[in-house]
Amino acid sequence: MQRLSTGIPEFDKLIEGGIPQGFFVALTGEPGTGKTIFAESFINEGLKEGDPCIYVTTEESRDSIIAQAKQFNWNFEDYLEKRLIIIDALMKEKEDPWSLVELTPEELVNKVVEAKQKLRTSRPARLVIDSLSALFLDKPAMARKISYYLKRVLYKWKFTVLATSQYAITTSEAFGFGVEHVADGIVRFRRSLKDGRLRRFIVIEKMRQTNHDKYVWEIDIVPGKGIVLLGRLNERVEDYALPEKVKEKIKKSREKQENL
Ligand SMILES: Nc1ncnc2c1ncn2[C@@H]1O[C@H](COP(=O)(O)OP(=O)(O)OP(=O)(O)O)[C@@H](O)[C@H]1O
Ligand SMILES: [Mg+2]
Repeated sequence: MQRLSTGIPEFDKLIEGGIPQGFFVALTGEPGTGKTIFAESFINEGLKEGDPCIYVTTEESRDSIIAQAKQFNWNFEDYLEKRLIIIDALMKEKEDPWSLVELTPEELVNKVVEAKQKLRTSRPARLVIDSLSALFLDKPAMARKISYYLKRVLYKWKFTVLATSQYAITTSEAFGFGVEHVADGIVRFRRSLKDGRLRRFIVIEKMRQTNHDKYVWEIDIVPGKGIVLLGRLNERVEDYALPEKVKEKIKKSREKQENL
């Protein structure tokens, strides 16, 4: 099996070397936890390795994505239109060939495929959708269906996909929880405020066909470097799940809603 490096060597080690080619992986977590920077690292690694790369941005402008990458010495500009296309779903400008006028799953797929053809290579490509949640913000019940559609079509086109999604703290489920079931892998980003300091963590909640690490890791975002793993916590995935009582309550309230 071919595995793709994320550009974070310590992270690659946790998943047997990298993300299996053709996978659809969700990066899920609260705001400011590092999802976009992780996705940019994956793209930067792809550019270095000669992979065609496409980055769809729905919440930040193309310029913002480029400027953020630059802070880690990842020069996206050098590759634009040659090996990298950044599709801006925010701009909604008809004059820009790589902007999305309408943010629908079908429009997105069409544009991504067009971009892949523009890059003129038969090599399997890397794709980031940042964020996927934007596609079903107004219709969370569609999350699963939309995610499934994207996964199926993009797999056919030989994309390995990282898709970011927001996290609903109240229910402890990724926004539009359907994404989590459809995804081949889930990397969960967390944050905590302890002793007056912001700390960030990641944990691999799922990676199909992979004997992956099951611990929580503290991460840091370092200028000039990107995401760095600081160390492993003595906490496993099971340990930070919501208490059973709370989960039961959520389940009951959801059932109630469905019965209305
Ligand atoms: N040059 C830098 N050096 C150190 N830390 C940085 C640098 N640039 C950004 N950061 C940190 O990264 C954070 C942003 O991370 P990122 O954009 O990846 O979050 P995110 O999970 O994508 O959030 P959102 O869900 O809001 O898009 C900033 O809040 C800041 O703390
Ligand atoms: Mg982001």
